Amino acid sequence: MYLPSVHKSEGCRQLKNEINIGLLGFGVVGSGVAKILQDHQEDLHHKLGVPVQIKKVLVKSIHKDRETTISSNLFTDKLEDLLTDITIDLIVEVIGGVHEAKEAIERSLQAGKGVVTANKDVMAEYGPELLKLADENKCDLFYEASVGGGIPLIRTLEDGLASDRVSALIGIVNGTTNFILTKMKHEKMSYEDALTEATDLGFAEADPSADVDGIDAARKMVILASLAFSTEVLMEDVFVRGMRDIQTGDLELAEQFGYTVKMAGSAKKDERGIEVAVEPVFFPNSHPLASVNNEFNAVYIYGDAVGETMFYGPGAGSLPTATSVTGDIVAACRNLLLGVNGQRLHAPQYVRKVKNESEKHARYFHRIVVKDEVGVLTKLTSIYSRCDASLATVIQHPANKESGADLIFITHKISRQQHLDIMDKLNETSEVVDVLSHYRIEGENG
Ligand code: HSE
Repeated sequence: MYLPSVHKSEGCRQLKNEINIGLLGFGVVGSGVAKILQDHQEDLHHKLGVPVQIKKVLVKSIHKDRETTISSNLFTDKLEDLLTDITIDLIVEVIGGVHEAKEAIERSLQAGKGVVTANKDVMAEYGPELLKLADENKCDLFYEASVGGGIPLIRTLEDGLASDRVSALIGIVNGTTNFILTKMKHEKMSYEDALTEATDLGFAEADPSADVDGIDAARKMVILASLAFSTEVLMEDVFVRGMRDIQTGDLELAEQFGYTVKMAGSAKKDERGIEVAVEPVFFPNSHPLASVNNEFNAVYIYGDAVGETMFYGPGAGSLPTATSVTGDIVAACRNLLLGVNGQRLHAPQYVRKVKNESEKHARYFHRIVVKDEVGVLTKLTSIYSRCDASLATVIQHPANKESGADLIFITHKISRQQHLDIMDKLNETSEVVDVLSHYRIEGENG
């Protein structure tokens, strides 16, 4: 049983009695957007006071068989059909990729149409340029679905935490790598099988190397860090290390030491500047991010005033991502109906200042196979002393007896530069058979 809609008088509203959408792309996310707009049309009508409907859908092939209740008459393979349709108010870009999508967004804005996009590749690389173009054309450009699938992170940073100063943001922002690590740890699945399953479930990128090599997460961290710190952040500012060299044994070893391995993004800011990284890290098991599993994402945000907050939800998949897209559609529709579209301020407040490697500090976990000989431990600990790195834990682990002794070193806080210097020196040492793995320890107090 529905209550009647109550809306303000027409005085402050544009005279629109419907909102028409042009949808670019009908893949995993696009079909989800169409489904939500169709299944929830009464709710959307109630919230906005006017119906929202898809007017045209741009696809590569209009003859392809599709499981959808959308009329086949709406499909076209010409972008022009959408741009020249003056009844289309909003363009929703979910084709993915970079160049074609960027051009479509530019042309839509130049045609005076607001844009909603889920495209992190485009927003990470060209976000400031496109937001400027949107401002110049008095159009909205919303991109909530570009980060964190169904979790409203961008709106949280832009609105909910607008009055606070964010000092750090740490999160799991790639569903595919989190899914793979969860399956490897809890179901002993191989990396390859877990990646295949993530691809079959529609979580992975068209080229999953963007997921496993950390590029997808790095793009998302660029978007989040720019908003959190109100400064320009470039892809080249992000330290990126993928998950390919994580060994199955590392996951068990981490557990023995009270940690969980996660592919994490981190963005931190202090008086020396910002540091942004994407890499496999050790979280203490007591940290909430350690128990975020499967394709779920979660982001921890530290604000000076609010303290610690955490946002959790499905980070990939058709309907979660489409929920963020349709949330943006609602926001854009509200602006259009109130006649305040394209009036948001986007310019960053602070000059870009990025820390160097000597200014980034953390504890590190090193796993090294050495020849089981007299004096080796002394030789290795002397490398740490020469790099001015203090050790918190030194353990000889029995796991690798055949190839040599397996040594674990956990440092106190050192700079990333010290960590890199230690790695170089270890690799040059004849008694070192292999530096098997190394992880930054994230999320500890202090
Ligand atoms: N491939 C991405 C992920 C999709 O796994 O997180 C959502 O951005």
